[in-house]
Amino acid sequence: MVGEDVSAVHPVIAHTPGELVSAFVVPLVSLVYLFTVDWRLTLITLAPMALAFALVPLMMTPTRLREQEESDAAMGRISNSVVEFVQGIAVVKAFSGSGSAHRAFLAAVDDFVGSFQRMVRGLSGVAAGMQVAVSPPFVLLVVLTGGAALITGGGMAPVDLLPFLLLGLGLTAPVAALGHGFDDLQAARRAIGRIRDVLDVPPLPEPARPVAPRGHRLELRGVRFGYDTDREVLRGIDLVLEPGTVTAVVGPSGGGKSTLVQLLPRFFDPTHGSVILGGVDLREIDARDLHRTVSFVFQDVRLLRASVADNIALAVPHADPEAVVRAARLARIHDRILELPRGYATVIGEESELSGGEAQRISIARALLADTPVLVLDEATAFADPRTEQAVRRALTASRAERTILVIAHRPETVADADTVVMLENGSIVDRGEPAALLAGNGRFAEFWRSHRSATAVRTQVPRGDEPR
Ligand SMILES: Nc1ncnc2c1ncn2[C@@H]1O[C@H](COP(=O)(O)OP(=O)(O)OP(=O)(O)O)[C@@H](O)[C@H]1O
Ligand SMILES: [Mg+2]
Repeated sequence: MVGEDVSAVHPVIAHTPGELVSAFVVPLVSLVYLFTVDWRLTLITLAPMALAFALVPLMMTPTRLREQEESDAAMGRISNSVVEFVQGIAVVKAFSGSGSAHRAFLAAVDDFVGSFQRMVRGLSGVAAGMQVAVSPPFVLLVVLTGGAALITGGGMAPVDLLPFLLLGLGLTAPVAALGHGFDDLQAARRAIGRIRDVLDVPPLPEPARPVAPRGHRLELRGVRFGYDTDREVLRGIDLVLEPGTVTAVVGPSGGGKSTLVQLLPRFFDPTHGSVILGGVDLREIDARDLHRTVSFVFQDVRLLRASVADNIALAVPHADPEAVVRAARLARIHDRILELPRGYATVIGEESELSGGEAQRISIARALLADTPVLVLDEATAFADPRTEQAVRRALTASRAERTILVIAHRPETVADADTVVMLENGSIVDRGEPAALLAGNGRFAEFWRSHRSATAVRTQVPRGDEPR
């Protein structure tokens, strides 16, 4: 949409007004002059243009418009499949010797060829008719025939035919300009419709009179949420996160863990119930206040194409360089940064690439520097080697005693370190409590964790002999 639809609107705003003015002024002046010479021949000269205009409605029948929309949509599908194809190129290379990945693209192209042909076939007759009507030979023929008739029978001086032959051809220029302008206008109209669809999605409402949260106790009260109205992902969550505690969320894939934590920085509002920070519903809190309170370390870290230092200081743009280094040390990434070509000034993605685990430690340094009272951590499965990981986890909990931490845990060590474990399954909390107590019992968590551990036992034994560097 940003690439194609905006380009489609561009000519209408940037070029069409100027082109239309120049296409109309000269012909209009000519027309006035020709009227003073002989009004009858002027009308005859205008006949081909009238014919062309008469054909315009034939290009705008519901069938023609639908064909154009289909052809546009097919073009959109080509763009989408190209983007998909390029983004997934690694997967395509690894898994598709058969060329099946091209298939979606080829199908989109065939589809476009079909609908484009239908559109052109429908339009070509009318378009050809218009072209002929405004073409110089045809206009010349009409002017000469009309002029000859007027000279022999109507008493027009032969010399008066001359301005019509010279200027008459120019009169049709607006039609040609209109033709193009009209295409552009139609394309722009459809593009604006699509752009408006996106802009019409209502933003999360901001409170008119924001209330400041009192403290950092987080509470979810009867929270229900679904991405679509027909399927609920969270079905009534009640949860309290006390300051100074670490809560681990565990559960099977697709259970709603990532969805749950995304409600805390208010990426979405719950459909029922509320998320309450320091006694105030998130919907009542100013967005900037909220972002100063909650920081996030995502599972899938995206670093910006900027220097390492700027990446770490994202939330605190004027941070003291020493504070940046301190955060990097705590996140156990300082030494790696010094190995980069220009240390903290190295531009990520241009001068150097980082591994997934390294990138996540940068984002942990970012969170440590932001020093927000609430931290949400979606633990990566490929986080770091065990020793680094433990050190980082300690840093996170130790750096601020009253910090509220919510972590989506994939490792036994993280769960064991937590004060509370919450097991989320199918959008509901099915088990909660102290990790040791839960493990000793026979609840859902104990069952889930035993099967999980036996599945990962082999994997967790491997690094023992292979000491971290
Ligand atoms: N952006 C989205 N739009 C629509 N549905 C979504 C979206 N994100 C997640 N879902 C659906 O919500 C459900 C819960 O997903 P969620 O990502 O919260 O699971 P999860 O517990 O984090 O799983 P995992 O451990 O695999 O990361 C899934 O069924 C998923 O299909
Ligand atoms: Mg997830």
